[in-house]
Amino acid sequence: MSVTWNLDSWRESEIRQVPKYGNKDHLDSVEDQLRLSPPLVFAGEARTLRDHLARVAQGEAFLLQGGDCAESFAEFRADNIRDTFKVLLQMAVALTFGASCPVVKVGRLAGQFAKPRSAPTETIDGKELPSYRGDIVNDMAFTPESREPDPDRMLRAYNQAASTLNLLRAFAQGGFADLHQLHRWNLDFVKESRQGEYYEEIATRIDETLGFMAACGLTSETIPQLRETDFYTSHEALLLNYEEALTREDTITAEKGWYATSAHLLWVGDRTRQFDHGHIEYLSGIQNPVGIKCGPSLEKDDLIRLLDKVNPNNETGKVVLICRMGSEKVNEHLPKLIKNIKANGKNVTWCCDPMHGNTIKASNGYKTRRVAEILNEVNNFFLVHKSEGTHPGGVHFEMTGSNVTECLGGANEVKESDLGSRYHTHCDPRLNGSQSLELA
Ligand code: TRP
Ligand code: MN
Repeated sequence: MSVTWNLDSWRESEIRQVPKYGNKDHLDSVEDQLRLSPPLVFAGEARTLRDHLARVAQGEAFLLQGGDCAESFAEFRADNIRDTFKVLLQMAVALTFGASCPVVKVGRLAGQFAKPRSAPTETIDGKELPSYRGDIVNDMAFTPESREPDPDRMLRAYNQAASTLNLLRAFAQGGFADLHQLHRWNLDFVKESRQGEYYEEIATRIDETLGFMAACGLTSETIPQLRETDFYTSHEALLLNYEEALTREDTITAEKGWYATSAHLLWVGDRTRQFDHGHIEYLSGIQNPVGIKCGPSLEKDDLIRLLDKVNPNNETGKVVLICRMGSEKVNEHLPKLIKNIKANGKNVTWCCDPMHGNTIKASNGYKTRRVAEILNEVNNFFLVHKSEGTHPGGVHFEMTGSNVTECLGGANEVKESDLGSRYHTHCDPRLNGSQSLELA
């Protein structure tokens, strides 16, 4: 944290990826409304997640982070949230069972609206308009009105995040996530795939174990851990007007300190992580766990500088390094970062995002990713950590519970000619339910 950190000190720094709002008064009034709105998450929850992530760093747990590339206003429906949550539960079960290791579950959900863009404007047929920056900023339609940043969208995003989180809390704590329900999480279209069958096998074995435990008196009534799960939320902290307005001082503990209350964990993207820019300035003042996306262009010494700023006390569980190198580049770049982190004695939680370094354009023009390359990056990530003696803490996926055709391959093979049939993403291509389960 800089000596002069305060809630809005990011506004004095250089900053990238900021929308140009036309009406300053309108923007101010929306920020004021958000400042008066209730927090979505509590400081104590963010601290608990930090403790869990510290266990991940120490090799005692595994991090599973997943959800949409970008949430949208159009796809906001209870069944979409439920289906993504079901697939995350299935993945968590497969990982917990397969590795006998607790899984820390974090959704890219309930706030993942803002998107960084490669250019501030987009030109189609000679017409130039501002780029689409996610539903929290503007609308995707290519008209001047739609592309104009509208502050009211922050309020709509806040309300959507609040009701999404409300549903997730009910699912996680209200009986839906009870291990005795695990056959019900298998979605119809997944059930028919090889992954669905494999999942049923695991589920049946867990059922047998639960039956044995019940006979010994250990049931959902007696053991809350069987019927509940902890589920956390996260998103990219890109639109700082929104984040600042939802950042609150913890009044419950003696230490005080500022907490982002829009989600439990916030991360900074690969495009906005300059250590002397506004996004890092903002993140350096909050007590939540923070993710840093690490792309192939990240220099090892810049990473140390970033850690010094975001985690000056070198606390374990505070920083998750979300590596998104690409399946080939990971072998070249990751060892350099790991060696330098070790040499500097930095405590970090390592996580693999095998999505963003493997985006390609199919011959028919669709932006897509190959499941085989995604798996390849995860494998390479694990191998590099094995040879460095460090812990490959977790994975970060862009996925959905819907039966989309956005990524190529998988056991139920999606081919290039299938991409057009159910390509619904507002941003990057996501794994569908069976592809997600296959990777888990
Ligand atoms: N409470 C444990 C956990 O969250 C066990 C558990 C309950 C669980 N429901 C679950 C694990 C659903 C995975 C998925 O790990
Ligand atoms: Mn993405």
